[in-house]
Amino acid sequence: MIGEMRGAIFDLDGVIVDTAKYHYLAWRRLATQLGFDFTPADNERLKGVSRMRSLEILLEVGGRSFDPATCRTLAARKNSWYVEYIRAMDAREILPGASEYIGLLRKAGVKTALASASKNAPTILERLGISGLFDAVVDGTQVTNSKPDPEAFLLAASAMGVPPRDCVVFEDAEAGVEAARRAGMGIVGIGRPESLKDADLVAASLGQLRALLPWARCPAGR
Ligand code: G6P
Ligand code: MG
Repeated sequence: MIGEMRGAIFDLDGVIVDTAKYHYLAWRRLATQLGFDFTPADNERLKGVSRMRSLEILLEVGGRSFDPATCRTLAARKNSWYVEYIRAMDAREILPGASEYIGLLRKAGVKTALASASKNAPTILERLGISGLFDAVVDGTQVTNSKPDPEAFLLAASAMGVPPRDCVVFEDAEAGVEAARRAGMGIVGIGRPESLKDADLVAASLGQLRALLPWARCPAGR
């Protein structure tokens, strides 16, 4: 259940920006090099999942397996392509209404944090020019256990100084929804209700949540 919100924690990929398309291009390029197809449907399984786990899923799709050192090389190769794509991004790629919604929450006195499984999150925030929208940033370099483990969200709550029960997570991936549930936080799913069944509320985008701003205000005295 969503109660009052004193802290808002945002996933990055799929909530603030659509980087899934760049992840897909880079993973597909690797699959092609390895001699198999990787479809957009396969790519759905990578959302919210760490880089190494994504590689495992990709290799499973292609029926291939490699020793750990080769896996690290393959993941690094994919990442160098991905970084080429994201270096070309700018503020025009922020999803409609996302920065405005986060800005409105901040005006209402809600603390904000970013919690992403991506090790590239700081580069993306910098490219989009929105680092200043967050009181705390937790990225893939700071967590040992990636989503669906609640570690990233718990770290974000603690960095904001807000108890987990007063935090709401905004997530587009099933793994992230499960992580938020395990962290004991409210969950707003961003995307299609069919794929976000465990969320307390689902909206197509952050922009569509603006009408709910009054709900974000904290009762006086807390
Ligand atoms: C996000 C994306 C995943 C991606 C992960 C790691 O959670 O949704 O698709 O695999 O970040 O990203 P990275 O930039 O560290 O490879
Ligand atoms: Mg995401």
